[in-house]
Amino acid sequence: MTRFPDGFLWGTATSAYQIEGAVDEDGRGPSVWDVFSATHGNVRNGDTGAIACDHYHRYPEDIALLSELGVKAYRFSVAWPRVLPEGTGSINPAGLEFYDRLVDAVLAAGIEPWVCLHHWDMPQAIEEQGGWRNRDTPSWFGDYSRVVIEQLKDRVKRFAPVNEPNVVPWVAYAIGAHAPGRRSRADCLAAMHHLNLAHGLTVAAVREAGADLKVGPIISLGPVVPARDDDAHRDAAVMLDCIWRRVMIDPIMLGRYPEPLAGEIAPLVQEGDLAVISAPNDFFGMNHYSRMYAAPDPDNPFGVGDVPPPAGVPTTSMGWQIDPEAFYEQLLEVRDRYGNPELYVTENGAAFPDQADADGRVEDEDRVAFLDGYLRAMHRAIEAGCNVKGYFVWSFLDNFEWAEGYDLRFGLIRVEPDSLRRVPKRSFDFMRSVYRTNALP
Ligand code: FCB
Repeated sequence: MTRFPDGFLWGTATSAYQIEGAVDEDGRGPSVWDVFSATHGNVRNGDTGAIACDHYHRYPEDIALLSELGVKAYRFSVAWPRVLPEGTGSINPAGLEFYDRLVDAVLAAGIEPWVCLHHWDMPQAIEEQGGWRNRDTPSWFGDYSRVVIEQLKDRVKRFAPVNEPNVVPWVAYAIGAHAPGRRSRADCLAAMHHLNLAHGLTVAAVREAGADLKVGPIISLGPVVPARDDDAHRDAAVMLDCIWRRVMIDPIMLGRYPEPLAGEIAPLVQEGDLAVISAPNDFFGMNHYSRMYAAPDPDNPFGVGDVPPPAGVPTTSMGWQIDPEAFYEQLLEVRDRYGNPELYVTENGAAFPDQADADGRVEDEDRVAFLDGYLRAMHRAIEAGCNVKGYFVWSFLDNFEWAEGYDLRFGLIRVEPDSLRRVPKRSFDFMRSVYRTNALP
């Protein structure tokens, strides 16, 4: 038996746009993802989040399933355009009421709510004013955060500002694969700094709101390595590592921008910004999916790209390498470079080509093996002194996987395409047993 420390926080995670649906209901404003997914060619099969898992209406059933799964904590996000349909200004009471009901139901099930304030569904009205390129957006985001925190702080004690602020500049502003789909070096650099500021301003909002509240970033991390052993690939790895990992963690955790981008970002940084960005956090949220392989890419605004892993290695349906060792290495890197913060793995999981039987049941042994391997790697990291306090599986339900639409499924629960019926998979039973025993078999 591989046992985890007493009190280890077991959970699962989702995000608003990926599961809620109901995009036109109760006064919600449009988000960048409504607009982006409506444009032909942006998302596989033309899928959108318009209905998604219909969690907006089916949340009581979903919370009953969370209870059956036996999680101690549930991480979800609040949709900014539901609360402030125009991004700023007037509050939509019906939007806040939905999250009131959701939080109450989560608490009534004996589960601790972890609220991420923004998981990529930016109000379209903010995008029309420049989105993360605009230096005003961080303070608008801070205002929005304050509204949500004030509303929920009597019941929610854990907040995270932006999900994966490192993914947004790279994927949405440099590669253009996520909303708003831009491909510009200047836009990407501006988005980086403004997302860091947004983080810091929300930390300040949490501090003002109450001493019993806790806040921390949620950053997607994995080792970045050259795809080939030559100078061009090694240089590409240095740049990609800076873009992907350092540029969002170093300012938050160490109070400075890293090379080779520090000089280019400097003109965006105003007096006092770094103090706001590096204000202490209570915890560090780390999402982990894969090691990244860097290569030169002349079409990319930074001249670099991440390429598929070497031929022959095992991968998930996303094409991401199955490599628990990368998870272990990354956990130790955070321990050593960033002062061994109180760490929660806020996302980890995998997409596989699930096949349902006649009853809709999925015997996803590949996902079970993946989770088993990654949990063992995390256990080794804990034994090596890494301060890991909890783990959230991505994801609770099969859902709208951004540019991949509904084809790629990460859930412990299958959501049937038309009926939206929920059917727990074999991996649901596996995780339920881990949660119950606090151990791996
Ligand atoms: C992460 C996102 C999450 C999900 C997983 C697979 O980067 O935070 O919404 O899409 O990847």
